[in-house]
Amino acid sequence: MSNAKITSDQLRSRDWFDNPEHPGTTALCIERYLNYGITLEELTSGRPIIGICQSGSDLTPCNRHHIELVKRVKDGIRAAGGVPFEFPMHPIHENARRPTAALDRNLAYLGLVEVLHGYPLDGVVLTTGCDKTTPAALMAAATVNIPAIVLSGGPMLNGWRGSERVGSGTIIWELRKRLAAGDIDYAEFLARATDSAPSVGHCNTMGTASTMNAMAEALGMSLPGSAMIPAPYKERAMVAYRTGERIVEMVWEDLRPSDILTREAFENAIVTCSALGGSSNAPIHVNAIARHAGLELDNDDWQRLGHAIPLLANVMPAGAYLGEEFHRAGGVPAVISELLGAGHLHGDVMTVNGHSLADNVRGRETRDDDVIRRYGNPLVAHAGFLNLGGNLFDSALMKTSVISKDFRERFLSDPDDPDAFEGRVAVFDGSEDYHARIDDPALGIDERTILVMRGAGPVGHPGGAEVVNMQPPEALIRRGIESLPCLGDGRQSGTSGSPSILNASPEAASGGGLALLETGDRLRVDLGKGEVQLLIDDAELEARRQRLEANGGYRYPDHQTPWQEIQRTLVEPLDRGMTLEPAPKYRDVARLSPPR
Ligand code: FES
Ligand code: MG
Repeated sequence: MSNAKITSDQLRSRDWFDNPEHPGTTALCIERYLNYGITLEELTSGRPIIGICQSGSDLTPCNRHHIELVKRVKDGIRAAGGVPFEFPMHPIHENARRPTAALDRNLAYLGLVEVLHGYPLDGVVLTTGCDKTTPAALMAAATVNIPAIVLSGGPMLNGWRGSERVGSGTIIWELRKRLAAGDIDYAEFLARATDSAPSVGHCNTMGTASTMNAMAEALGMSLPGSAMIPAPYKERAMVAYRTGERIVEMVWEDLRPSDILTREAFENAIVTCSALGGSSNAPIHVNAIARHAGLELDNDDWQRLGHAIPLLANVMPAGAYLGEEFHRAGGVPAVISELLGAGHLHGDVMTVNGHSLADNVRGRETRDDDVIRRYGNPLVAHAGFLNLGGNLFDSALMKTSVISKDFRERFLSDPDDPDAFEGRVAVFDGSEDYHARIDDPALGIDERTILVMRGAGPVGHPGGAEVVNMQPPEALIRRGIESLPCLGDGRQSGTSGSPSILNASPEAASGGGLALLETGDRLRVDLGKGEVQLLIDDAELEARRQRLEANGGYRYPDHQTPWQEIQRTLVEPLDRGMTLEPAPKYRDVARLSPPR
């Protein structure tokens, strides 16, 4: 192979499989791997050993298709002269895991770091799909720094009801309002919700799953054009084969995550995320991956680089189409091509195929400029996030493009300032409190109320709940008020398009100011200044803080499992990526030989 930088003697796996200085440990290792029919020749003739991190299982249906796809990955690895070793990832399924799938992102990360460090692997294929599987895999690849390539399982086919597209997740938010308004019953609700999931694959909307797989591609960690191929398409299996071939070449080229995950690559990811109308979970995960790659990326970077970027992907929840149309229109390369043409991306960064980002998208313009818009004809002018501060928190994100005209009129506080809003708050402590009390008339919720959710961050929930997008009381929905602004220290589903201020850090459970808020308080949101202010004087705010501290601080539910306790002890706030406090300092651990 012409670009080879290393020889078979330098393969990491040789230390396990062909080490005459340690015949005992070598023999013990080899004999057991032969017990299912691998030959001695395969393990000792200097072929790269390639791990395949299998994220699909019956518990992770969004990724389950990888059980089939990895057969093509293995074919590709074999064809290129490698030996595949498949192993499981800790399951992470967004919808079924309680209290929240986010609790498991760091657990899967830790498990994968240990596997990649402690076993005889020269490179790894990371199979991804459902929301947190992608960041967990990329975080581990960044920490360990062995050659690594991402293979998305791809989104499901489009959901349909008659001639209407039904997008995963997004339809649930709509149907919940219909159910609350009494337009449909529970049976109809379930029947229509399942229309959105017609095949194998992950969410077909631009929710967190599609966003994070697109981020992997924008970062240069998966083959160009691969992120959004629908799961059942033949191209999906073809790209699985090429991914297998390519990882073997990457091992010989010694092409590692540290060559790809540079500051410029992360800046590209931020810009691309905005143009995709990507999930509000992306800043958390992308900041986390960056921290594990040894870079500090923060929410100011997201605002500075991303806020003014126009929305180009006409995909739900921000747009009208789903994964199939997006793929046919050119997918992520077409979006990158537009952004590159407008001068917003670093085109010379390296990617997993050994070519630059600019090389990869040459000639791959949009094939349908309604689905993937031209830069000069976007759906929305400013699609990215604002990073807000104020007297209640240091950082919280808001996607301003979802603020409707009606909403602006309802909350405008000053006719001369279109960016300043005011409202009275109703405060909830976690999602159970919200469900118990949202319809309570004593809260006095009307069309000018801001709903506040606290106790929903990585410590409070634990793991950080996707519960900030709260729907209004039924009485208000019946009057046609379908959404109220929401503010919280938790997250929001990437498939929801509500106007919310999210991910407030620090969270109430870690001493954040939201703990001091009381129902009836007034908030002023000034998007021009980038601030959210509780309208009380500083002395009263301080008095509230002292009362809270005298009462032992903000209360949250007890730990229920050992991992909940460990994670709560070590987890950092959402704006710092919700990483584990000691983890980012571990870099390049593949270089450190584990003791025998
Ligand atoms: Fe798994 Fe959306 S729930 S991808
Ligand atoms: Mg989600």
